[in-house]
Amino acid sequence: MKIGVFIPVGNNGWLISSNAPQYMPTFALNKAIVQKAEHYHFDFALSMIKLRGFGGKTEFWDHNLESFTLMAALAAVTTRIEIYATAATLTLPPAIVARMAATIDSVAEGRFGVNLVTGWQKPEYEQMGLWPGDDYFSRRYDYLTEYVTVLRDLWGSGKSDLKGEFFTMNDCRLSPRPQKAMKVICAGQSDAGMAFSARHADYNFCFGKGVNTPAAFAPTAARMKAAAEAVGRDVGSFVLFMIIADETDEAARAKWEHYKAGADEEALAWLTTQSQQDKRSGSDTNVRQMADPTSAVNINMGTLVGSYASVARMLDEVAAVEGTQGVLLTFDDFLQGIEAFGERIQPLLACRTHVIAAAQEVA
Ligand SMILES: Cc1cc2nc3c(=O)[nH]c(=O)nc-3n(C[C@H](O)[C@H](O)[C@H](O)COP(=O)(O)O)c2cc1C
Repeated sequence: MKIGVFIPVGNNGWLISSNAPQYMPTFALNKAIVQKAEHYHFDFALSMIKLRGFGGKTEFWDHNLESFTLMAALAAVTTRIEIYATAATLTLPPAIVARMAATIDSVAEGRFGVNLVTGWQKPEYEQMGLWPGDDYFSRRYDYLTEYVTVLRDLWGSGKSDLKGEFFTMNDCRLSPRPQKAMKVICAGQSDAGMAFSARHADYNFCFGKGVNTPAAFAPTAARMKAAAEAVGRDVGSFVLFMIIADETDEAARAKWEHYKAGADEEALAWLTTQSQQDKRSGSDTNVRQMADPTSAVNINMGTLVGSYASVARMLDEVAAVEGTQGVLLTFDDFLQGIEAFGERIQPLLACRTHVIAAAQEVA
């Protein structure tokens, strides 16, 4: 199973709590995180794009770095780990993203890929006059389909002439092109999102579900597998989890309870309001569940809490779910968490024996 880190480009990572570590996102911090992840043989690092925060006393995500510029810098200070940036596709013309990606590909020497998001929080775009109207909620994957067509045309042949509903290309050119086939990833959870990934993405990200229920996302992975099979492609699921680990189950559980006790209710109220804005999509989008009381404090991303051995056992359960190709990890404290993962958890993982063996050979 592949392992990636979802790096904290927004303040405080993914814990909306005044009891969690409080920190600003910086290049120095993210460089240390990605270099440590590379040291422990993580396969990839991904950064999100977030343009408007949730507020509250923790000012949650009111402070966010930009994804492509940060990943370009991180590509320059790493050598093996794959690097993914997220394109907020409502804000950047596809021909510019194609060229930015080709540029970072040159820095990363083939280790770069792009996460395409449609956007789900209207205030991120409305604040800059770029929200196309609420009909967009129901058309978002039609828009993304044209978008990715332009990207693939430019990366593949260096030319795009697409005459679409959203984009008009007039003998548009790109050179230099990426040295390797550019990876496109997406995180569609709705039927339309998964149908998009099935046709156009290399992998699809999904949310893990619940606390210490590692296989609870299995129905989502099954939907993705079916959608890909329907179009004759193989598009695996990568599952998002937060790891809260310590020497014992009790110590890890105590940290988790402490974080929950400090939940920033004002920021969570904003998330609740935002997650209900899309009245056009069906119940298949997961956006409305982000503020579910089960685990709103970390946006219900799926949480594995326990001793290093317990977390390893749960990650092997994740790996056994059909259609799973990898996990994307967040931590309460990224630097400590990645080190503990590399030293204490990974050596116990049956799904990472290939990595452990390779590391021993080098040593
Ligand atoms: C791992 C992961 C990363 C994501 N990154 C972003 C992001 O950077 N920006 C963003 O607006 N949405 C992001 N999303 C949200 C998705 O793009 C998407 O809006 C959400 O999963 C709902 O899917 P749907 O549009 O199919 O309903 C992410 C989701 C996941 C699971």
